[in-house]
Amino acid sequence: MTDQKCNSVHLLREASPYIHKHRGKTFVVAFPGEVVEQALFPQLIQDIATISALGSRIVIVHGTRSQINKRLEIVGRKSRFHHNIRVTEPGDIPLIQEAIGYLRITIENLLSHALNQPNLPNNSIGVSSGNYITAQPLGIIDGVDYGYTGKIRRIAHPFIAQQLDNKNIVLMSPIGYSPSGEVYNLDYEHVALSTAKALNADKIIFINDNDAHLPHEITASQIEANATASTFLKKIAKILLDGDIERVHLLNAATDGALLLELYTRDGVGSLISAKQFEHLRAATVEDISGILDLIHPLESIGTLIKRSREQLELEINNFHVIVRDQKIIACVALYNTDNPNIAELACLAVNPEYRGGNRGDKLFRHIAQLAHTQGKARLLVLTTQTTDWFRERGFEKGSVNELPTNKKSLYNYQRNSQVLFKKLA
Ligand SMILES: CC(C)(COP(=O)(O)OP(=O)(O)OC[C@H]1O[C@@H](n2cnc3c(N)ncnc32)[C@H](O)[C@@H]1OP(=O)(O)O)[C@@H](O)C(=O)NCCC(=O)NCCS
Repeated sequence: MTDQKCNSVHLLREASPYIHKHRGKTFVVAFPGEVVEQALFPQLIQDIATISALGSRIVIVHGTRSQINKRLEIVGRKSRFHHNIRVTEPGDIPLIQEAIGYLRITIENLLSHALNQPNLPNNSIGVSSGNYITAQPLGIIDGVDYGYTGKIRRIAHPFIAQQLDNKNIVLMSPIGYSPSGEVYNLDYEHVALSTAKALNADKIIFINDNDAHLPHEITASQIEANATASTFLKKIAKILLDGDIERVHLLNAATDGALLLELYTRDGVGSLISAKQFEHLRAATVEDISGILDLIHPLESIGTLIKRSREQLELEINNFHVIVRDQKIIACVALYNTDNPNIAELACLAVNPEYRGGNRGDKLFRHIAQLAHTQGKARLLVLTTQTTDWFRERGFEKGSVNELPTNKKSLYNYQRNSQVLFKKLA
């Protein structure tokens, strides 16, 4: 098989559990107007159509700020902002409608094309947009009258849900209608988050081109405390801290296939911004010994983990790392040196049964692999009796007892007959 074919097989295998997991789930995908003008945008739309054809329910929300700015500029009108919110004059409204209409049609057109590719089995009309948002004026704040800038009063979520049930992609624009017959300009971030909340969406994914530098996970408070955070991030952080949205994903628009990689690969490519840090991973201390023992004792008694006494754990506590949630230890792992300077051992990986299936095992494994790599190790060793497949899915390969470092070989328990697995650290 060629390398390319091997990669495709590997990718399909990695993606298949996620395809199953995301079927029937609702995702709100939001991006600013600038992203629509990028060369990769048609590809993003194609990827969204693919995700819809794979059975996920998709709501797209687009922004229009840069396109509105350009239209106002062309006719010699000034864009006015206060606290980074547009002040919309009555004369701006026709130009805003033009900008939004133009973008909406551009996106609908690309989606229609993508959904009608012969390889996408989508028998529905494809894309639906409409008067889903009821808005009211933002009003006068700090003495500034925001004019036709609005805030969301209501999202017609039952109608959106109906469209999603019919397998249509819903396209939402940053505009709302009032019962009194006015049209209000809205900001797309609020449209995305309010729609997600109204629909009880499973994921909210923002795609922009400014914040590619963020770590894999970050909290809203960390963003708030960072003076250099972008206006977009500050806005999202405030919404997360104010409301009942727990987390959003952020992807870089310049990464080809970012949405597919985020949804269908184990590691993803984006950043997760959470309202609160419910739990965190840290090095263990002596205060954690009882919590670790509570976690591992049941696994020792059924033979999944080898027995460790309290005294042994006290001596080895500096090797341990734990995930703590509300001051309770819910997962642990240990990293040991061996007498081969190139090989470190991962051991005692355990997640409280109530919290399994939430990627915590994965998070601990990645943390340990990174730590061993920074310590200059080339390979990670694990000895396991019941978790071979879990480790193999994470790149471990079968080894033999003969390959064990000498101190591990001399202690190898032939009765226990553990699998010897190695992973190369890159
Ligand atoms: C193995 C373990 C650490 C995984 O923790 P976790 O936080 O649930 O792991 P993740 O959420 O990252 O992965 C969950 C996936 O692993 C799978 N999995 C769990 N245990 C497995 C096993 N023994 N073999 C193969 N796959 C397994 C789950 O079915 C789930 O698959 P899915 O994503 O397709 O639904 C946890 O199941 C555990 O504590 N097991 C008992 C202790 C143990 O065996 N430790 C390893 C000894 S070295």
